[in-house]
Amino acid sequence: MAHMHLPQITDMPSLRGKRVILRTSLDVPIENGEVTNDFRIIRALPTIQYLREQGAKVILLTHVGRDPKNTVEPITRALQKHIPITYIPEVTGTLVEAALQSLGEGETLLLENLRSRNEEEQNDVAFAQTLASYADYYVNDAFAVSHRAHASIVGIPGHIPGYAGLTFTEEYEHLAKALEPEHPALFIIGGAKFETKLPLIERYAQAYEQVFVGGALANDLIKAKGHEVGISLLSPIDLTGTPVMEHTNILTPIDVVVDGPQGRHTAPVAGVATDEKILDVGEASIEMLKPYITRARTILWNGPLGNYEGGFDVATKACALLIAESDAFSIVGGGDTVAAIESLGVSDKFGFLSTAGGAMLEFLEKGSLPGIDVLMNAK
Ligand code: 3PG
Repeated sequence: MAHMHLPQITDMPSLRGKRVILRTSLDVPIENGEVTNDFRIIRALPTIQYLREQGAKVILLTHVGRDPKNTVEPITRALQKHIPITYIPEVTGTLVEAALQSLGEGETLLLENLRSRNEEEQNDVAFAQTLASYADYYVNDAFAVSHRAHASIVGIPGHIPGYAGLTFTEEYEHLAKALEPEHPALFIIGGAKFETKLPLIERYAQAYEQVFVGGALANDLIKAKGHEVGISLLSPIDLTGTPVMEHTNILTPIDVVVDGPQGRHTAPVAGVATDEKILDVGEASIEMLKPYITRARTILWNGPLGNYEGGFDVATKACALLIAESDAFSIVGGGDTVAAIESLGVSDKFGFLSTAGGAMLEFLEKGSLPGIDVLMNAK
C-alpha cells in the first residue's frame, strides 16, 4: 500500500547510546579493489550522519554484488573519505561481538558482505535473530534491495523495531509520485528482458499518455511488428498478436544503429539485415521522441536505450539532455541510466535520481515492496 504511514528515523525514540543496525545499499561497482562510482556511497551518508549525530552506535550492513566471495573492504575505504568507520571481516561471530562491546556513541562499524552468508538470501530466521540481537533498532536505507525478501530486509525488523532511513523515505516519496503523475506523463523504458517488464509496460500504457520502449526491449516489439531484427538480442517471448501490441501509445524506434558485416550504421527499422545486430536507437527516433518530452509534465525513465555496457550510449545521452532541458518533473532510475546523466553533469536538472534499478521497477509495477510492507505492518 503506497499511502500508509512509513515509520521514519525522525520518529525514533532517543538514540543516545543505542545500537542501530543500518541496512544500506552500498552495492557499488568495484574495479581492481577500488570503488568506481560513489553515487550510492554519497546517498547513504545522510542517514549514517543523522544516526551518528543522535549519538547512536551504528552497525552498517550491505551486500556487494552477487558473488559470496565479494568483500566490502574497498567500500570501507570509500566511506572513510567521508566518515570514520571500522571494518569487521565477518557478518556474525566473535569479531563482531568484541567490536560491539567497545563501540562508542556516534561510532560506526561496517560488517562483511551480507551475501557472504547464504542465510541472507534464504531469509534464515536464526541468522536474522542473531543480527537483531546486536541492536536495539533497525533502519532500512536500502531501497534498491527492498524488493528482495532477504534476512536483512524483512527478517531483522521482525525482531526489533524498524524504521525507514532518510534516503529510503526520499525514494519512496518520489517514486510514489510516479504512481499518480501530473499529466501528460511519459514513461521511457530501456534495457532487456521483456518477459519481466511486460506487466509494467502494460500498466503504464494504461496510466500514462505515452510509453517509449528502447534498448533490447524494443527488438521484441520491432520483431512482433513483422520486421527483421537479424541477430539482435531478443527475450524468450513472442509478442506477436499479444495485447501489448494493441496499445497505440507505445512508441518504438523508427531507426536503429546496427552492426554487422557491412559495418556500423544507422538503418530504418524496416531495413535491418539478417546478419546485423541492433545496438542503439537512431537519431530520427530521438527526434520523434522530442515533442513528447517537451510536452510532458512527468517523465519516468528506467534503463538505457542502447547497449550501454558495450559503449552504445549515444541515444541514452541524447535522451538525458532532452529531459534535462524539459520542464517536466523527471524521475530516473537504473545504474546505467543514472551513470549517463552523471557523466553529462546534468544531474541537478532532474527531479529525482533513484539509487534503485530492479526495486524501482517492482515498486512501479506493484505499488509496494516487501521491505516497505514489513516496516508499515510492524506492530
Ligand atoms: C541493485 O543493484 O539493484 C541492488 O543492489 C539489488 O541487487 P540484486 O539484484 O543483486 O538483488
